[in-house]
Amino acid sequence: MKDIEDLKNKALGDIKSADSLQRLQEIKSHYLGRKGIITSLLKEIKNLPVEERKEFGKRINDLKLTLQEALGRKEKELQKKHLERSLAEEWIDLTIPFEGGCGTLHPITLTLERIVTIFRGMGFTVEEGPQIELERYNFDMLNIPPDHPARDMQDTFYVNKEGYLLRTHTSPVQIRTMLKNQPPIQMIAPGKVYRRDDDPTHSPMFHQVEGLVVNTDANLKHMKFVLENFLKSFFASDLPVRFRASYFPFTEPSAEVDIGCLICNSKGCRVCKESGWLEVMGCGMVHPTVLENCGIDPEVYQGFAFGMGVERLAMLFFGIDNIKLFYENNIRFLKQF
Ligand code: PHE
Repeated sequence: MKDIEDLKNKALGDIKSADSLQRLQEIKSHYLGRKGIITSLLKEIKNLPVEERKEFGKRINDLKLTLQEALGRKEKELQKKHLERSLAEEWIDLTIPFEGGCGTLHPITLTLERIVTIFRGMGFTVEEGPQIELERYNFDMLNIPPDHPARDMQDTFYVNKEGYLLRTHTSPVQIRTMLKNQPPIQMIAPGKVYRRDDDPTHSPMFHQVEGLVVNTDANLKHMKFVLENFLKSFFASDLPVRFRASYFPFTEPSAEVDIGCLICNSKGCRVCKESGWLEVMGCGMVHPTVLENCGIDPEVYQGFAFGMGVERLAMLFFGIDNIKLFYENNIRFLKQF
């Protein structure tokens, strides 16, 4: 019994003087491990005279509990010290000036800013709409009937809430703007759009800039002037621009706008498919039905609208041949802008 008391004092002394978690672990296995002193003492019980076994067993178990408790307390204490030390040592001074250079704006951001700046200069306001849009604004109110191919599940991402989808173009912002404001309206709406499309020139998410002008005498000649002026400013070049008759349900007449291929100087190459022209946007006079849908009298007001792909313009402007480069966040790519 005297030995047990000595053992207890010795063990508690060892625990108290432990100065690291590793040392504490060694002490733990020395006393309580599978081959530890306490464990082997417990195995000794069977060799004692029967009348001593009970008392001895109880003493050893008490000792075991005492040591476990002391080890637990010491472990917490050492963990706390360890944490405090690493917090002090691994502290980072965020106020030290960094001399390794500076971040850059994303090429799509730069392109959007460039587009917005040019239209602001022509007196356009900037509007925004949600990316999760009402099917009614994205299609119905734009005169896109329920059986129109653009509604096909292959093109549109639907969300699991009846009547909502990921907008497939920025044109629903036309609707939102006309429902909110009476003419005169002269706005652009930049933003993200979504389509089930994925190849080197198409991404399931991309950006568009919508434009809408509504007043009492907006006409095709105004539209041509605004868009030609925009494209020449954007590319800082007196490049050829042409309007090619096309079809959109929400404009009549409709056109697509082509610019002379910048890659081959209109001579014909792989990028322009040997045609010398590159398509950069859709446009047209706002369909009277669309004005009416928004409570604007088509007998009094008329307007034009346009929509352009931002990635397309950015690829031409910077000379980038794969749309995926915009979304990979490769630092060596991004640092060039
Ligand atoms: N919304 C059309 C598209 O995504 C572009 C467009 C906008 C065409 C406005 C005409 C007028 O393709």
